[in-house]
Amino acid sequence: MDLAPLFGLRLRTPRLELRLPRSEELDALREVALGGIHPPEFMPFTIAWTDDPELAEFRAYHEMRRRDWRVEEWHLELGVFLEGEPVGIQAVESRDFPATLTVGTGSWLGRRFQRRGVGTEMRTAALELAFRGLGAELARSGAVDGNVASLRVSEKLGYREIGGGTVAPRGVELHHTDVALRREDWRPPVAVVIEGLGACLPLFGLPSE
Ligand SMILES: CC(C)(COP(=O)(O)OP(=O)(O)OC[C@H]1O[C@@H](n2cnc3c(N)ncnc32)[C@H](O)[C@@H]1OP(=O)(O)O)[C@@H](O)C(=O)NCCC(=O)NCCS
Repeated sequence: MDLAPLFGLRLRTPRLELRLPRSEELDALREVALGGIHPPEFMPFTIAWTDDPELAEFRAYHEMRRRDWRVEEWHLELGVFLEGEPVGIQAVESRDFPATLTVGTGSWLGRRFQRRGVGTEMRTAALELAFRGLGAELARSGAVDGNVASLRVSEKLGYREIGGGTVAPRGVELHHTDVALRREDWRPPVAVVIEGLGACLPLFGLPSE
């Protein structure tokens, strides 16, 4: 599919810009990830991709998400730039969006950029894209027990617990808490400017403006 319009999509918050990373920006984001995302003993991801010390698949993963983009199932992996500097990824994904009006999100930040409110601000941008930009009704997230930061971001933004399950990123089962935020409960804590969305709407399964 021609994803060119997605490169014009910009989400701006007071401190951040979220956009699809260009080739050299993917390399910079891999360097951020190589600098560490979480303590080695605690795996926050359902797939243990950070256990590879080279992160050799980093670029291939992002390229695969673009190559495999379908209107029926899309994964938007936005680079997060803090005052111009790449700091992490905020993903928004959905299946059959026009029917489900539901998105999921996932994210990471380099450790040195954590605990400064950036995680809350970038999730806010993703939720504004989903609820205000695309007309979503529900946003889902989740985290393994012990991922205080992720669960706290969700709690602060109004998500409620909807269930749980187990995941085993390193072969040992961990409990996972699932949370969801309904459109009517959404109150963005900071303003988000959305640019360039009109041309992207068909890629999300929506009619063009
Ligand atoms: C999850 C993540 C993106 C959150 O980003 P962040 O910038 O660190 O989060 P914020 O600074 O916005 O903090 C949000 C809240 O969590 C709290 N928090 C953050 N890290 C915490 C920690 N290690 N222990 C306790 N509380 C923590 C903050 O104090 C804040 O709550 P408060 O406003 O009540 O004080 C980031 O921590 C991260 O990349 N973690 C590793 C990867 C990951 O877990 N991804 C999600 C997988 S589901």
